[in-house]
Amino acid sequence: MTEATNFIIFGVSGDLAHRKLTPALYNLYRKKRLPEKFRIIGFARRDWSHEKLRESLEAGTREFSNSTFDVELWKTFSENIYYVRGDLNNVDDFGKLKQFLESLGQGNNLYYLATAPEFFMPVAQNLAAHQLNVEDGYWRRMIIEKPFGRDLESARQLNQALHKIFEESQLYRIDHYLGKETAQNILFFRFTNTIIEPLWNRNFVSNVQITVAEAVDVGDRAGYYDNSGVLRDMFQNHLLQLLSLVAMEPPISFKADDLRNEKAKVLRAIRPIELSNTVRGQYEGYANLERVRQGTQTATYAALKLYIDNWRWQGIPFYLRSGKALAKKSSEISIVFKRPPHRMFEVLEQQKVHCNVLSLCVQPDEGIHLKLEAKVPDSQQETRSVNLKFHYADSFEDIIIPDAYERLLHDALNGDAALYARSDSIETAWQIIDPIIQGWENDPNAPPLQIYPVGSWGPSNADDLLAVDGHHWRQECGNH
Ligand code: BG6
Repeated sequence: MTEATNFIIFGVSGDLAHRKLTPALYNLYRKKRLPEKFRIIGFARRDWSHEKLRESLEAGTREFSNSTFDVELWKTFSENIYYVRGDLNNVDDFGKLKQFLESLGQGNNLYYLATAPEFFMPVAQNLAAHQLNVEDGYWRRMIIEKPFGRDLESARQLNQALHKIFEESQLYRIDHYLGKETAQNILFFRFTNTIIEPLWNRNFVSNVQITVAEAVDVGDRAGYYDNSGVLRDMFQNHLLQLLSLVAMEPPISFKADDLRNEKAKVLRAIRPIELSNTVRGQYEGYANLERVRQGTQTATYAALKLYIDNWRWQGIPFYLRSGKALAKKSSEISIVFKRPPHRMFEVLEQQKVHCNVLSLCVQPDEGIHLKLEAKVPDSQQETRSVNLKFHYADSFEDIIIPDAYERLLHDALNGDAALYARSDSIETAWQIIDPIIQGWENDPNAPPLQIYPVGSWGPSNADDLLAVDGHHWRQECGNH
């Protein structure tokens, strides 16, 4: 990373640049992980100067960085922050950008689309109009924020249009869940521990549960959210990405395409989801929010049961749920194991036999729990569930878990797309989710939208989804 590198943020005046991108880049600088010659060029419409942008990003970094703010360090870092005023739709303004980049000297360009999705294509086209997509001895890459399309058709069109300008290898579609340490650890945990992988299949696993629960409501994003809903906002991307990490076959290496081939394969093996295996909910009060359509049917909660038609997972249900305004923030993946085949302990006949549960605690209390059965001391044959726990906070106490963006930006700068979504997976994910969205909107037999109280665990039908199979939702994480 000795070549000069420019990190160009479109939509730099927005939230993302202040909350996530600059704090992440500042932390990478602090850790000496940025190229020696590194510049940030912000592009937006406001009448700002270089200095004004620096001040604004400084305030964001002070507030949102997870490290202590070092004034001296910021000073040297921010000397390389520049501002180009321009309109994303105005091709001439990209000429100004080109001139400015040339004035800095030759270098690599990493473009970051921190804009609303309707600007993705105009920006790509305006870059191309000035050959800013052309690799002339220096690389050109583009990071694209979510949402990537709003259904299969629009995602396909976007992929096709982008591929006219950039090669797939130049495109980095971000899903910040893949940058979370605990999400990365899923593969390390599965494939570096000899005792785990042999159990990771239909012979030993009874069911798999993925919960991404949020306590926050839609906040000031009601306008966006009402056109999106939980399936587009969370399932098509984050939940299916987590699912693919949990369910994929071992890749032959950790190289981007080896990894992404396996992820693509497992998504393709998901059986079309029946509407009767879906639950949708909306939290109380959502429909009265400003900027929400009258009589809105937008789901703020969903639960799904799905099956993966391959050798490893045949017949094993995967339950996925996510929602807003729930009892607490908690993302966890639970692998529920089958009960022992033979019960030799008499008391067990009357007493409930518990399953072993392995829980990957994604956030906020990052770790892994393994629920085992143990004999209660001084009893004849009574057993009780006990928990083996690993917590990042205890085992890695001197390491601050980096924000997901830190890892992802570092990877893009290094040309490693392993933790980015490839075009085929994005389209397959829409193929899985689209029929549910359409069914909910148009099918008279679709499950009705259930209103659930704020601070609850969502609609009660979500429990029935598991109860018919003799299962129940697990909440194993969070009691550190
Ligand atoms: C975003 C969604 O992609 O992820 C938000 O648009 C959601 O609605 C957020 O709140 C959750 O991310 P995290 O990292 O807080 O779990």
